[in-house]
Amino acid sequence: MAAPTASNLSFSSSYSISRLSLFQHKKTSFLCTKNSIIKRKCRHGGAVKCMVLEKSSAAEVTRTKKQSVYKLQTLTSWLLKQEQDGVIDAELTIVLSSISMACKQIASLVQRAGISKLTGVHGAVNAQGEDQKKLDVVSNEVFSNCLRASGRTGIIASEEEDVPVAVEESYYGNYIVVFDPLDGSSNIDAAVSTGSIFGIYSPNDDCLLDLDDTTMLDNVEQRCIVNVCQPGNNLLAAGYCMYSSSMIFVLTLGNGVFSFTLDPMFGEFILTQENIQIPKAGRIYAFNEGNYRLWDDRLKKYIDNLKDPGPSGKPYSARYIGSLVGDFHRTLLYGGIYGYPRDKKNRNGKLRLLYECAPMSFIVEQAGGKGSDGLQRILDIQPVEIHQRVPLYIGSTEEVEKLEKYLS
Ligand code: AHG
Ligand code: MN
Ligand code: MN
Repeated sequence: MAAPTASNLSFSSSYSISRLSLFQHKKTSFLCTKNSIIKRKCRHGGAVKCMVLEKSSAAEVTRTKKQSVYKLQTLTSWLLKQEQDGVIDAELTIVLSSISMACKQIASLVQRAGISKLTGVHGAVNAQGEDQKKLDVVSNEVFSNCLRASGRTGIIASEEEDVPVAVEESYYGNYIVVFDPLDGSSNIDAAVSTGSIFGIYSPNDDCLLDLDDTTMLDNVEQRCIVNVCQPGNNLLAAGYCMYSSSMIFVLTLGNGVFSFTLDPMFGEFILTQENIQIPKAGRIYAFNEGNYRLWDDRLKKYIDNLKDPGPSGKPYSARYIGSLVGDFHRTLLYGGIYGYPRDKKNRNGKLRLLYECAPMSFIVEQAGGKGSDGLQRILDIQPVEIHQRVPLYIGSTEEVEKLEKYLS
């Protein structure tokens, strides 16, 4: 019998090469699995033995097979898999891809800000009375352009726009996207971490809103506001991109939290963490303590306790970047609590419900944590205006619950 070689072996469709156990080549036989070939002397009276594994052995081979170190999952292929599995539809896949493109573009602008004279203020004030940085304005344009070009967004609402904008170019999907194009922009000129935050809703005409203050707006603008004012509970997807020592894209589609790191070698986001779970507790707090004297006494007591838990306990560590995305990302991975409380000057705190607090709360809940305004779940709050601010306490479940006890 002629010795079979890899090239002249023929298999029926029910047998794959992983199930072929032994073949001989030049008097040496090989035990073959899909990923390993072990040389072994084989003499069956000079005859070559070729056999297939029993079913159980074949299963063993499949179980032990190793993943190739060259196998990477990109954000694009991951999104397509989600689409195949019915988690999202094709239109949402396109919206998310266009957001990831916007983030790459913003990252490059942030990295080159000093070189291309994009540091400093723009000279205008946004709808919330904040000085806009040049990069706030440019990032808003980049985000809006990418979303419009996707052709799948009906309405977009941004921190940097007075009112939500209807997208005329939309021809399918009509998703509503809320975003903070550049979060932590006060850090830009010092090259400290910043980010972009987004949330995606489907259109909702049932959303109730007191339109008293909007009588100056036309019908289209009113329809936009009504559609955008949805509680975080309705979010279909939320995420953020952090521009830091690495560029990290964190995303939830309501089935866990996934993190992708940009590989600068090929300009693609690569899946680096699956199903992120925030630690149940963590001894790090992130508050702007410069506002301590303006806080409620109950909050002061809570913070005092973190710093001085008594003879038995070790004080918590303070970490505060002043960029929600950066502070939140650390909290998600290490555990602890991030807070932006209301104070005597800012009765509702500083952070915006729609495009900061709700998306981050959706993410943290998907990771097993909590997002609260001190009294209630952030995702349950029905917005009554676009740029509405709410206090935010977010992070490890035990830490947020401990704070809620102090505030109750
Ligand atoms: P933005 O740059 O989008 O206006 O947001 C800034 C926010 C948030 O990122 C950060 O946590 C907080 O402002 C910091 O505020 P303070 O400087 O008052 O601490
Ligand atoms: Mn922000
Ligand atoms: Mn911003």
